[in-house]
Amino acid sequence: MWEGSGSQGGKAWAGRFRERTHALVEMFTSSLAYDRGLYAHDILGSIAHCKTLERAKVLTSKESRAIIRGLGLVKTELDADRFPFAPSDEDIHMAIERRLTELIGPVGGKLHTGRSRNDQVALDIRLFLRDAVCLLIERVRLLQRALLTQAKTHLGIAIPGYTHLQRAQPVLLSHHWLAYVEMLDRDAGRLQDAFQRLNVMPLGSGALAGSNYPVDRLYTAKLLGFPAVSENSLDAVSDRDFAVEILSACALIIMHLSRFSEELVLWSSQEFQFIELPDGFCTGSSMMPQKKNPDIPELVRGKTGRVYGHLIGMLTVLKGLPLSYNRDLQEDKEGIFDTLDTVANSLEVLAHLIPGIQVRRKQMAQAVERGFLLATELADYLVTKGVPFREAHSIVGQVVRTCVDRGQDLSGLTLADLRAVSPRFEADALKMLTVQGAIDRKAQIGGTAQRRVAARIKVLERVLR
Ligand code: ARG
Repeated sequence: MWEGSGSQGGKAWAGRFRERTHALVEMFTSSLAYDRGLYAHDILGSIAHCKTLERAKVLTSKESRAIIRGLGLVKTELDADRFPFAPSDEDIHMAIERRLTELIGPVGGKLHTGRSRNDQVALDIRLFLRDAVCLLIERVRLLQRALLTQAKTHLGIAIPGYTHLQRAQPVLLSHHWLAYVEMLDRDAGRLQDAFQRLNVMPLGSGALAGSNYPVDRLYTAKLLGFPAVSENSLDAVSDRDFAVEILSACALIIMHLSRFSEELVLWSSQEFQFIELPDGFCTGSSMMPQKKNPDIPELVRGKTGRVYGHLIGMLTVLKGLPLSYNRDLQEDKEGIFDTLDTVANSLEVLAHLIPGIQVRRKQMAQAVERGFLLATELADYLVTKGVPFREAHSIVGQVVRTCVDRGQDLSGLTLADLRAVSPRFEADALKMLTVQGAIDRKAQIGGTAQRRVAARIKVLERVLR
């Protein structure tokens, strides 16, 4: 219920105010529903802050010990989900501090010396994101390994490669899986890059101007495992670039997952029949008894929308903000949390689905036989006979047209058929028309030749071990 006047009791900033906070305002400004997810990192940061104050002789070691012990008690309550939240708790930072003071008395009020929620929350998100990014990288690796195993298991199977979703040239199925392993490798790299800029310690920036106390910020950083401290307090309390970078790395990950998912949907359809998805990862229809639906890849594809949305949301929150902290920044959290959950879960569920994919070799073998996949081979053959490529392209175009007219594929051609189009075709021309040959001629770095693909699998196996 959004009624009545709010509570003033217990608010840390109540001193300046004559009127109570309106109940609507309490509800509207509260971030507790979601920032409680930061509690463990908030307490970690507070312990480091407390030790820093002690070292600066702002707190005695007795006070510091009492506070750290109290923070431990608070954490136990939060861990066990029996923390008594109060209506006056604006956010997790206030809630923890209030409870700390209840538990250990007025000395709890010394913890916030030389600190503002502005540098505190900046620290908390960075601490939280450091863990989250590590988990995400692990998940990316998990998916890469699943794909790599499929690639290794099915080495040697040819499928049509597509452009414009039209059959183009034969490629190895493994080459196709590995394309996603490469994408994911860049994704992991982007997360690692972002981690470097994330890994900077903002505490000691105060509300915006810095700290009046002789705190050794490098010491705080060391306690928390940060290799660097922020160099400008105004920037440090209002910077969320690091979050944008991570959201954008996540947007690219889910875009890759969405493309992959789209292929799973297509490939498992009656129209393609290239793969069979594991039953445990599909769902049925409430009406049509025959249905087996690829809901997992569909949902991953669908979830891409919210991840892109959070990236745009974050950028939009930031775009008009004057220095330094503004309450708008509180809007950073839900999008961050949801993005990380969504992307981590999508990576995980796909990594578990992939080992259950059954490859339908027969359908794949039939598919490579149709669609003039070897037309380019014939053109390249003519080039070896000295025909300029443009001319060769046009000659083979005529060959294909003849086949289309006759309703047959290239494999049905005789040498006489070829020579009727161009005398430049010789007896060895028909030898070009094998899928295996077409694949193995793509032998440059990055090509689909089997020995290349096998070599790449070896390298990736080493990297991903
Ligand atoms: N809940 C706030 C946030 O997430 C904490 C900082 C509040 N700072 C302030 N000056 N009101 O941004």
